[in-house]
Amino acid sequence: MPACLLCEHPIQPFIDFGPMPIANGFLVPEQIEDEPFAPLRVGFCDACKMVQLTELVEPEQMFHDNYAFFTSSSAWMCKHFAGMAAEQQGRWLAGRQNPFVVEIGSNDGSMLLNFAEHGIKHLGIEPSGNVAQVAQERGVDTTVRFFGLDTAREISAEKGHADLFLATNVMCHIPDLNGVFAGIEHLLVPDGVLVFEDPYLGDIVQKTAYDQIYDEHAFYFCITSLEPLLKRHGLEIIRVEPQSVHGGSMRYTVGKLGAHPVHDSVPQQLEIETELGLGDSATYERFRKNVEASRDELMAELDSLRAEGIRVVGYGATSKSTTVTNYCGITPDHVAVISDTTPLKQGKLSPGAHIPVVPYETFQSNPPAVALLFAWNHEAEILAKEQTFIANGGRFLRYVPKVGYTKAVEVQR
Ligand code: TMP
Ligand code: ZN
Repeated sequence: MPACLLCEHPIQPFIDFGPMPIANGFLVPEQIEDEPFAPLRVGFCDACKMVQLTELVEPEQMFHDNYAFFTSSSAWMCKHFAGMAAEQQGRWLAGRQNPFVVEIGSNDGSMLLNFAEHGIKHLGIEPSGNVAQVAQERGVDTTVRFFGLDTAREISAEKGHADLFLATNVMCHIPDLNGVFAGIEHLLVPDGVLVFEDPYLGDIVQKTAYDQIYDEHAFYFCITSLEPLLKRHGLEIIRVEPQSVHGGSMRYTVGKLGAHPVHDSVPQQLEIETELGLGDSATYERFRKNVEASRDELMAELDSLRAEGIRVVGYGATSKSTTVTNYCGITPDHVAVISDTTPLKQGKLSPGAHIPVVPYETFQSNPPAVALLFAWNHEAEILAKEQTFIANGGRFLRYVPKVGYTKAVEVQR
């Protein structure tokens, strides 16, 4: 039986999605023969309560110099980070002498740019060279490497200790979370804080958002599992703030044990988690049944659209969609192409399902009857942008939180 990544207790997976390609492994036809597949299974640790993948892909296979995700591809995410940077700067850096801000998984610098612009000392730590280079070109100090206790020691020796440590959508990617929290505890000044956000397990369970489960997301966090883990590293959660980005995220503010008062939001959210049963294995058995029902409903709709000759195009070649297409069995016969604004993905095939990814301009010049909303986490941004498509009778089909069309109007058949 696989063992917990954090406490080594044996774990029985509660969903086996089957063999999966690399979620962000967009490829050209010549690479199909050698496309790597690995099992995708998710489990719940009865001992430490952490929901996690029970099988991992080597980090170097996922985060490399051709990493296809650029934060700046979403204007709303950039706005979200600008707001977050301003808020954290006001809350934690005011009055500090020459403060130092560190961010891991800093991607193309979309967050740190906001500190760099104010002349604040900062450092981005990013393992994917191509996105790091974009950050450097934007004037954001960035080093290309993975973060752990050793890196933390090097940075504190070279640049000093950090007042603010940021991580958005990265903590859940790191299997050696014990090493990361040990590194953060070392790097922070005594009253320094860690602010991180990731997709929230409460949202995943409530919305049956199983597509958040893919190779890059080793962990699915909630307070129930994070609190004991952080305490083991001399840290504690002092505030939580739910976020609407990425389909439902949680922002955790963490300080050294006893260094800051604990905000009411922490016990309040913990109570919600107890009601949701996030620390209870039966919850995940129910989740699995909901996932299977969601898959069957989506495929019934896609099969019937195909039978009627209705053209369906995917909207957003998200990493999440790799789980959906491969687990559900979506083929190019169901979804002809996927429209995406990221140049690196365009002209490639989607991982596993091999659906061609086309530029957004193709969607605009040849709009389909139905757009399958793979980027459902950006729904508000996309609906605002696609008023013409909708006005012309185009429909968005989504599968989170329920399979259905964005408007309660039936598709024109
Ligand atoms: P994400 O869900 O991991 O943030 O990825 C979003 C993907 O969707 C990314 O490849 C860019 C693409 N996208 C579009 O093609 N059009 C859009 O309007 C938005 C917001 C994203
Ligand atoms: Zn465990």
